[in-house]
Amino acid sequence: MQRCLTLTFARQSSLLLGNKFATVHCQQTAAMSGLLIHQPKYAWLKELGLSENNPGVYNGSWGGSGEVITSYCPANNEPIARVTQATLGEYEETVQKTKEAWKIWADIPAPKRGEIVRQIGDALRKKIKVLGSLVSLEMGKIYVEGVGEVQEYIDVCDYAVGLSRMIGGPILPSERPGHALIEQWNPVGLVGIITAFNFPVAVYGWNNALALTCGNVCLWKGAPTTPLTSVAVTKIVAEVLEQNNLPGAICSMTCGGADIGTAMAKDERVDLLSFTGSTNVGKMVAMMVQERFGRNLLELGGNNAIIVFEDADLNLVVPSAVFASVGTAGQRCTTTRRLILHESVHDTVVERVTKAYKQVRIGDPWDPSTMYGPLHTKQGVDQYLAAIEQAKQQGGTVVCGGKVMDRPGHYVEPTIITGLAHDAPIVHTETFVPILYVLKFKTEEEAFAWNNEVKQGLSSSIFTKDMGRVFRWLGPKGSDCGIVNVNIPTSGAEIGGAFGGEKHTGGGRESGSDSWKQYMRRSTCTINYSKDLPLAQGIKFE
Ligand code: UN1
Repeated sequence: MQRCLTLTFARQSSLLLGNKFATVHCQQTAAMSGLLIHQPKYAWLKELGLSENNPGVYNGSWGGSGEVITSYCPANNEPIARVTQATLGEYEETVQKTKEAWKIWADIPAPKRGEIVRQIGDALRKKIKVLGSLVSLEMGKIYVEGVGEVQEYIDVCDYAVGLSRMIGGPILPSERPGHALIEQWNPVGLVGIITAFNFPVAVYGWNNALALTCGNVCLWKGAPTTPLTSVAVTKIVAEVLEQNNLPGAICSMTCGGADIGTAMAKDERVDLLSFTGSTNVGKMVAMMVQERFGRNLLELGGNNAIIVFEDADLNLVVPSAVFASVGTAGQRCTTTRRLILHESVHDTVVERVTKAYKQVRIGDPWDPSTMYGPLHTKQGVDQYLAAIEQAKQQGGTVVCGGKVMDRPGHYVEPTIITGLAHDAPIVHTETFVPILYVLKFKTEEEAFAWNNEVKQGLSSSIFTKDMGRVFRWLGPKGSDCGIVNVNIPTSGAEIGGAFGGEKHTGGGRESGSDSWKQYMRRSTCTINYSKDLPLAQGIKFE
């Protein structure tokens, strides 16, 4: 038990922690029954190519001889199926094969790479429902959100197909006669992708589609608690590569825990390491990558606020607050954790949001009418209880929820806590569970300051009709986050924009806009096509 508790300190800490811990946790919660994959009700898992025991390594061929982990359904604690993770030897072999594959992939013109990404998007379209169901079964999010994740991957594939004909650098005016000044963008090479349990498809998709289009090869390590989703996604991608007679190692995968994550962070052959997870683990990853002057792309924690002004349309505020705080059972990095209410609307909004919370339909995540499912792990439940205790000690009042639910699986009541100081330690902590802290403010200046005073800087929203305020919010003294919204919730970003945040959120940008630049290196090229050698700045060296 003690060892399991080491998992509790951060949401994706399990990414870098040893597989042993996952196994210990699994054994504790294991139902004695057989695997779900053997039950007729779950026969659809086989449509994803999954079986009782699945290889957790792909590098053109499937393998894996490391630790065997069992994946459990968070809604009932039943074991689904097993995955054999990579050993460090298999990691080494995979990196070599992935590097070899780059030699072929980098020579393929970008629009032709885009065609492969288009085919990946189409292959995902064919499997969207069944893959969405697996996400729901293994991660615990509701079915529509599971499908929505696959849709995000498809959307970013479409985006990347267009990008494949648009990647460009400017031709700049040279100050020297007969000289051309050109920016050329090249792939970085091998992109390592470490993803978290909460978006086991979409976050890989954002990285994979862009990295491929830019001419990189990928090596993926998903969360140790969602290995079946990693395997199922990789099978879909691998089939496309193999059908096109391309090396499968263009999109490699090594399932694993801390050993593989650390190996990736320290490996000079990993030209860019994209890491999504907690701030604590992200910091360790960043230090390891920086130590070797590598590149990283960090998507870490958030502590996102919705600010509601006195002129806000409360018919927008209430569903926004509920969606962004209760959705995915509070396990998005963009989840609203702080609801900052003007004193004139405070009581009304608390009353209406509380009423809406009580109408949230809680149930099996794969049931289409369910709006709210379980937490992903028992560790999440422990974090939930600890946070509620701390909030009470720091002066908070639980006005809704606050308890673990008496049913199988990791269900907790979505919770609202009022009365805390804006700078209470628990309010400044990202606890990856459905707890919403409600704060009361008087002035715009105060509300903007509270939004910005937390360490994280991912997402933020205001609700107002005042245009002056809207532009102050977007401007230099407004929100300091990467995502700055008006009259919409903090979560649910579309792929067209750049996704990511500032400060302890890590500074990375993925998905749309010009995020592709993170996956490439820029060369500034000066070409002399004259017969003279004029020097810049008018320097004469003769
Ligand atoms: C995350 O929680 O890690 O904006 C990503 C959103 C989603 C992505 C969240 N599109 O909520």
